[in-house]
Amino acid sequence: MVTELYTPTHVYFGKGSADLAGKAIKDRGFKKVLIHYGTGSVKKTGLLDKVEAQLKEENIDYCMIGGAVPNPRISLAREGIELGRREGVDFVLAVGGGSVIDSAKAICYGLYDEEKGDVWDFYSSKRAPKGSMPLGVILTLSATGSEMSDSSVLTNEDGGLKRGVNTNYSRPVFALMDPELTYSVSPYQTSCGTVDIMMHTIERFFHSGVSLDITDAIALAEIKCVMENGKKALLDPNDYDARANIMWAGSISHNGLMNMGYGFRGDWSCHQLEHELSGMFDVAHGAGLAAIWATWARYVAKSGYSRFALFGRALFSIEEEDDEKAAMEGIDRMEAYFASINMPISIKGLGVDPTEDQIKELARKASFFGKRTLGSFMKLEESDMEEIFRRAL
Ligand code: NZQ
Ligand code: ZN
Repeated sequence: MVTELYTPTHVYFGKGSADLAGKAIKDRGFKKVLIHYGTGSVKKTGLLDKVEAQLKEENIDYCMIGGAVPNPRISLAREGIELGRREGVDFVLAVGGGSVIDSAKAICYGLYDEEKGDVWDFYSSKRAPKGSMPLGVILTLSATGSEMSDSSVLTNEDGGLKRGVNTNYSRPVFALMDPELTYSVSPYQTSCGTVDIMMHTIERFFHSGVSLDITDAIALAEIKCVMENGKKALLDPNDYDARANIMWAGSISHNGLMNMGYGFRGDWSCHQLEHELSGMFDVAHGAGLAAIWATWARYVAKSGYSRFALFGRALFSIEEEDDEKAAMEGIDRMEAYFASINMPISIKGLGVDPTEDQIKELARKASFFGKRTLGSFMKLEESDMEEIFRRAL
């Protein structure tokens, strides 16, 4: 089986990299930029002003649209597409975290779309994107890896459906990654980001194929590093090394590197189940992942105790020789880690309390109304999904 690794994103990493936005756009010959941002953090930190100043300095015309919320909505992307068409932009610059970048990716799909149809078509799999307007990113939150990934995830307020599209078209042209920009990220979002980064590697680690030792070694080292540095960043938000390690880990956990040798993209059940939770209850993605991971792990561990044992022994120095016992201990220890960084380890811990009908609806939506199973480490039917939601309550 062939595995692809395509990472066209030009990364500028380190202190001062965000000062290169104007030049990075100018050097590539773009003439008019749509700047996209979120609900205010980039105004508060002064980053948006700096970006505008750079574009003015380079004589690059621009327009702006803010307002991308966590779990970004398709309605704002539609507005961004209209604005971009009206203004005749040829480039989009996302300044923010994963929600801003994903919203910008949807805008880029829409601006490229010659049919000028509804951009939700791409997220509901009605049509496949044929291209995308070029996108640049200034990253302000380490979490999703969207700054290098092929994914974007949008929520349609009509029905509370959260859906993703993966295409290489949406990989950003460049990503400016200055760890100092993440000093202002709240402890809660720092923990959510830590979990999300770990989970992008964990989802790929649990698969049904054959591993490459090198990929396993990178994956386990990366998870360990993120666990340690997540704690450090909580203790001292201005710890440059911690923020830098987390930021780069966020990119390599989701840019495809951790797929190598597997021949497929991993399990991804927790992500799909979480997307339904955040689609219905608007919870933070990383927190939602922490809330269901251990339940998922205990549910599927029998499909491969040895893999879970490898995971637990590498991350927590578990000496237990019996694979099943080592596997279960590793799951307990990972759950305890999530709790230690103040992440919920149950759905109620997210502050929501789904009814039995809502649990059924979550599973219904996650199974695409009975049209798909989830997972590859263990295949989940709709009834399994329901049971995982129930046990995770
Ligand atoms: O809206 P603003 O003002 O920017 O505030 C945000 C938001 O309130 C704030 N924030 C961001 N940078 C900050 C900051 N606050 C202070 N200082 C800064 N430097 O943090 C809050 C959360 O931001 P958000 O962008 O929502 O977080 P994240 O980066 O975790 O993105 C989450 C979204 O990405 C999707 C998730 O499902 C969720 O919708 N994902 C995208 C993926 C992808 N495209 O590859 C993969 C992931 O698995 C995930 O599904
Ligand atoms: Zn994620």
